[in-house]
Amino acid sequence: MQTNPKRAELTASYDWYRQMRESQPVYFDPQMQGWHIFRYEDVARVLTEHATFSSDRNRFTPAGDPNSNPIISSMLFMDPPRHHQLRQLVSQAFTPRMVARMEARIQEITNDLLDKVVAKGEMEVIRDLAGPLPVTVIAELLGIPTERREEFKQWCDDFLSGDGNATPEAQQVGMQAAGSMVSYFNKLLEQRRAQPHDDLVSALLQAEVDGEHLSSEELVGFCVLLLLAGNETTTNLLGNTILCLDEHPEAVEQLRARRELVPGALEEALRYYSPVKIMLRWPVSETTLSDQRIEAGQTLLAWLPSANRDEAQFPNADQFIIEREPNRHLGFGRGIHFCLGAPLARLEAKIALNTMLDRLPGSWRVPDVPLSPINNLSVFGIAKLPLTWQK
Ligand code: HEM
Repeated sequence: MQTNPKRAELTASYDWYRQMRESQPVYFDPQMQGWHIFRYEDVARVLTEHATFSSDRNRFTPAGDPNSNPIISSMLFMDPPRHHQLRQLVSQAFTPRMVARMEARIQEITNDLLDKVVAKGEMEVIRDLAGPLPVTVIAELLGIPTERREEFKQWCDDFLSGDGNATPEAQQVGMQAAGSMVSYFNKLLEQRRAQPHDDLVSALLQAEVDGEHLSSEELVGFCVLLLLAGNETTTNLLGNTILCLDEHPEAVEQLRARRELVPGALEEALRYYSPVKIMLRWPVSETTLSDQRIEAGQTLLAWLPSANRDEAQFPNADQFIIEREPNRHLGFGRGIHFCLGAPLARLEAKIALNTMLDRLPGSWRVPDVPLSPINNLSVFGIAKLPLTWQK
């Protein structure tokens, strides 16, 4: 594959994944004190064999403060049977019907955002569409008033920038953002308890399995999880899709002419430039992965973008093929923690891409400027993505 200079920084991580898949597919990193897992077969095993590979972070790492990281007490870091109960509970509120009901609204928000740029012939995809669309959708689902959405976006960005890789200052800002989200949702829950609305938070308060409701901590954890899981990821799916199409300009015309190919193209973008990078797991007992012995409780870092480019699973894995079939990518995970928001993310991305194809005519071009990936351990995307088209 030819390396485009404006993509050099992007493709560097993919070169590393390839080398690691070939030479050290299961590698212990003394600095991170964890095992990196690179091959599709191993990553898929780690995600699906939940009885062996636990998601329960609190069981194996020092318990964190749920106020500084509310995600810790969310379903993402739980094992069965509690995970199963929680997933059943939230699935009562976060239903396919609720997602389908958002369709017209997603279309409206997309049109409003594109109205501001169509005549200009250029946009910054992340700032003008891919960023605001998911945050507006999830904020509306959660019943967060319009005037507070900017603030919410900032809290999400600060929280994500304060991950384990960040400077102590950034981690401090991230913790403050988490604290602000927790107190906001605690207040919102109080209000909805007193006066239910037709929104997700009220539905979550009512959800019940075996006579049991979600605890306040679980409710807050889930709201924050939705906000974080639903924003940056979907933003990057949209941005990364545009990147893929810039690398394959012929696909834009093909998609314009044959809209039935749009869902497949989005799945291929999820595979080719996967928005989520690492899934964490902890083996409950000693186990073996690609001939490496791993002790109970050691941290596993399963790399989704690497698994999704594994030649052993995907022929011509480094090519973006919109009609790829089969395409069993791991972009949304696999197994019991498979992304709960996948139908919403797919719907938003489909509407956004179709509307761009309708309204931004001619060929699309990302100008020749160096594109840098966002500096984050858990998500892959571009911070700024300029795009031009024919006016
Ligand atoms: C779980 C990716 C959008 C909510 C996951 C997991 C992945 C993922 C890889 C698996 C976690 C694991 O195995 O530990 C993505 C991607 C998205 C996206 C790539 C966008 C392109 C969304 C949206 C929402 C959402 C829009 C909600 C509004 C969740 C939740 C879980 C989850 C609640 C936890 C499920 C569980 O633990 O059972 N997501 N996600 N995601 N996602 Fe997403």
